[in-house]
Amino acid sequence: MPFEMVRNDITKMNVDAIVNAANRSLLGGGGVDGAIHRAAGPELLEECRTLGGCETGEAKITKGYRLPARYVIHTVGPIWHGGSNGEKELLAGCYRHSLELAAENGCESVAFPMISTGAYGYPKDEALSVAVDEITRFLLDHDMTVYLVVFGHESLITGRKLFRDIREYIDDAYAETRIRRRRRTENARENLWQTDEKAALDLDMEISQSIYEDACKSEAPPDLMANMPAPAMGAGPDWKKILKKTDESFSEALLRLIDERKWTDAYCYKKANIDRKLFSKIRTNPDYQPSKPTVLAFAVALELSLPETKKLLKKAGFSLTRSNDFDLILEYCISHGNYNIFEINEVLFEFDQPLLGSGMKM
Ligand code: APR
Repeated sequence: MPFEMVRNDITKMNVDAIVNAANRSLLGGGGVDGAIHRAAGPELLEECRTLGGCETGEAKITKGYRLPARYVIHTVGPIWHGGSNGEKELLAGCYRHSLELAAENGCESVAFPMISTGAYGYPKDEALSVAVDEITRFLLDHDMTVYLVVFGHESLITGRKLFRDIREYIDDAYAETRIRRRRRTENARENLWQTDEKAALDLDMEISQSIYEDACKSEAPPDLMANMPAPAMGAGPDWKKILKKTDESFSEALLRLIDERKWTDAYCYKKANIDRKLFSKIRTNPDYQPSKPTVLAFAVALELSLPETKKLLKKAGFSLTRSNDFDLILEYCISHGNYNIFEINEVLFEFDQPLLGSGMKM
């Protein structure tokens, strides 16, 4: 995945270069600057002393010393003064110049902190948009893996309308599941009272126990349908095999959809935030088994409708259910015509879900 957001301590990132949110002196400070100098050791400060400082929006490179990263790219973010003093352009320059410096030094992977969003007071949500814009623009013409490292459990986009709308959509879906489940159990209970009093009493015990357990859990009760046991082998048709034999495999369907749009492969996999190596595996193996986030990354890149998305998922053996945040977020975005994969990933990140394009098995 060329661009990924991760929750981590940047000094632990095993990449070619990490970026330091420094000050103009380059002689160390607090926050991530302090953490990097502590982890790199005193030789870092000695080398920084030779650099003669750095202008806001610019970047300079040193070795990484005791860090896992080979290099440290020091950049100086703007101090936030309300947004009308060129802060956005300066912050964009921090990302752009750091990426250029990384490419000039042969780096294949770079990790950024959220520059200027600590002591310098830049609003996180706006800083995130600047970072995502600059990084994704750079990645259109460069093969590199870029991480945006979020420290601890900071929230970035909870103020956004999209986040609030999706939060509401998920809560409604879980409420609906609870109502459906209750109605189903009510019906089962009524039927039992008419036929078998003892069994009805046992069911009552079971229901009160499960309602109590749900109350103890924060997450919504799983949708019964999603948990129906798969048909035992030998019991009726083997749907997996039948689905597999439908007209084409996932990889054949994907290549057909790309051809229908007269796109190049590169245009499609970059739009899907999928790296070249993964795409060539899919292209060369008609039976390639992708992860669900990978299938959905292509569905978003191809701007498929919800029914088309479900068809593509089925070819890879997946479906969209209404019983987990990941599926509900994708269902909301696709049904509302939001195909901005990086914006969708920001929401998935906020909900601690796998990001589109990641190979994470679900
Ligand atoms: N790993 C990743 N991110 C971190 C870490 C870490 N170990 N420590 C802090 N951060 C995050 C903060 O949570 C914040 O989101 O880095 C972001 C930037 O915060 P600061 O480090 O305060 O940097 P900035 O806002 O750019 O201010 C720079 O602070 O430390 C001084 O010398 C520095 O004067 C300069 C100013």
